[in-house]
Order: sequence, then C-alpha cells, then structure tokens
Amino acid sequence: MLGLKLGKMDLQSPVIMMSGIFSYGEADLGYLDYSTIGAVVTKTITLEPRQGNPQPRIWEAGSGMLNSIGLQNPGIKDFVSHGIPSLMDRGVRTIVSISGQDSGEILSMMESLSALGVETVEINLSCPNVHRDRPMISQSARLTGQLLRDVKREFGQVFVIAKLSPNVTDISEIAIAAEEGGADGLSMINTVRGLCVDIEGRRIIEGGYSGPPVKPVGLRAVYDVYRKVRVPIIGIGGIEKGRDALEYILAGAYAVGVGSGFFSNPFLTSEICGELKDYMVKNNFRRVTDISGMLNEKNYKTGR
Ligand SMILES: Cc1cc2nc3c(=O)[nH]c(=O)nc-3n(C[C@H](O)[C@H](O)[C@H](O)COP(=O)(O)O)c2cc1C
Repeated sequence: MLGLKLGKMDLQSPVIMMSGIFSYGEADLGYLDYSTIGAVVTKTITLEPRQGNPQPRIWEAGSGMLNSIGLQNPGIKDFVSHGIPSLMDRGVRTIVSISGQDSGEILSMMESLSALGVETVEINLSCPNVHRDRPMISQSARLTGQLLRDVKREFGQVFVIAKLSPNVTDISEIAIAAEEGGADGLSMINTVRGLCVDIEGRRIIEGGYSGPPVKPVGLRAVYDVYRKVRVPIIGIGGIEKGRDALEYILAGAYAVGVGSGFFSNPFLTSEICGELKDYMVKNNFRRVTDISGMLNEKNYKTGR
C-alpha cells in the first residue's frame, strides 16, 4: 500500500529521513519501527572534512528552529572508508547527500561513491549555512543546470536528486533547470534563511529555519514545481504528523521527507504511515502513488 519505487530502489514507505537528521544511517535504534522508513538521506558530505560552525548551532525560534551546523562532516575519504552505512536488513535504503563548491568537487565525490556502488545520491545545492557571503548554487538556474549536466554526463547510471532552496524568486525556474540538466528527482525544501536575536547575549544568530512554520513554504514549492516537471519530488518542510505528509502528497509530492519533526517525536515515521494508511483505507485508495498530485493539475502543454 505504502511501498513505491524511487529510481532502482524499492522503498517500503514513502517517508524518508532527511539529511542532517539521522546521521549517516549507521545507528540501529532498536525502538524504531524501521518498516515505516523508506530511506535515510545521510548527513551531507563534502570533499574535505568540515568542523562546522561555532556554537550556538541550534536556536529555538517560535514553533520552529534555526540551525547553523555548517555541514560538519568527516569528508568523503573517511565516509567511503567505512562503506555504505546500511540499515538494509531493516529494509531501509540509503541515499548519500553530498555538497561542493563546484562541479569539480562534486565529480570527485561522485567518483568515490560510484566506486563504492552507491546508486542514489542527493546533491545538496542549498545549504544556507556555509559561505553566507556567496549565493548557493540552487539560487542560479544556470549553475544548477550546468552542475547537473556535468554530473549526469559522467555518472548517468546514478539516480541523482537535486535538493533545492526556497530562498529564490521562483523555485520552478531552478527545478526546470535541474530537470533539464538531468536530475532524476528533486528534494524541496531545504531550510529557509533566517535570523534570531539573542538579547541577553547581545548577538545575532544566523541559520536555516525549519519546522512547522515552513510547511506552507514547502507546500507552495511542491505545488508549483509539480506542474512543471516530470521527475518525482520529495516534499519536505514542517512535517510533524500524517496529515502534513498527506497534504504534501496531494499537492504533488511523490514521497515525503521528515526533518526537525523527528527531534521532538522519534515515532513520527510510524505515526505518519499509520495515518496515511487510515486515510487510504477510508477513501478506498490502494497505492500511495495513486494519490500523489491528486489536488494539482499537471499540464505539460501549457504548464511551463
Ligand atoms: C539540524 C539540522 C541539520 C540539517 N542538515 C542538513 C544537511 O546536512 N544537508 C541537507 O541537505 N539538509 C540539512 N538539513 C535540512 C533538512 O534536511 C530539511 O530539508 C529541512 O530541515 C526542512 O525540513 P523540516 O522542516 O522537516 O525540518 C538540516 C536540518 C536540520 C534541522
């Protein structure tokens, strides 16, 4: 009922643990119902190791949170030396998230990953917490398209998902450029650039905003982009119950991503799957893919 195919991967559930939430998917937390997790996207890996940003890296902000981890990670060499982290025996697939400054860095990482047999990669083109003085790649349709072209030219057999930022005038333009460049899927949204003020410590806290308040921003992005692309979309942003996931799916998401919601509720994926199943049984839907985009209208002829 909830199973689906993403590229060559069979996912047991449409709920994906997004990057930065579940480490590298190496830990088996016994109390989780893994049958409710389709895949884990690893924490984003870069070519060189990164220490990340100074503290504070997490800041409570209304009913959401601001994070500024700054892509702390051990670098691709270390990652590859440990092999693909795998919860495969629990049926959970791994999607490796990578990020780089340009095609050269990404291609070098892709080489290491494809040698390791990695079949699905998410390219994070949208982290707001590194190089704040420079635009993100996904803020330029030209750079996004070019990077995807470079990657797919050399690694056509790898299923490549482009992760996009909501911090643009029109995310559809970027999504179309990614698809035209060869992206096989899209993840949206990454965090929304934000800022908090610590009046006691008298300092500015910068970071990416996530959690329930960004859900309408994510839904807007998915709804708009669904009409204009053919590739599957992973809908992310503010999902903290089954109803939220359902909203994304009806608006056009093929699968959904869980982010900060997992921090406050480790049973979130089980709850989402339970609610999705209840809704489908009640409304006589057999497969979750049947309801993807039901409240949206794809129009290839005039949609662009
Ligand atoms: C603490 C934290 C770390 C994150 N790290 C990454 C990361 O390394 N790479 C990435 O692509 N997204 C990262 N994200 C963004 C999430 O994957 C997700 O796109 C975003 O938080 C929106 O979803 P949410 O509202 O459900 O949290 C991070 C988010 C949080 C809260």
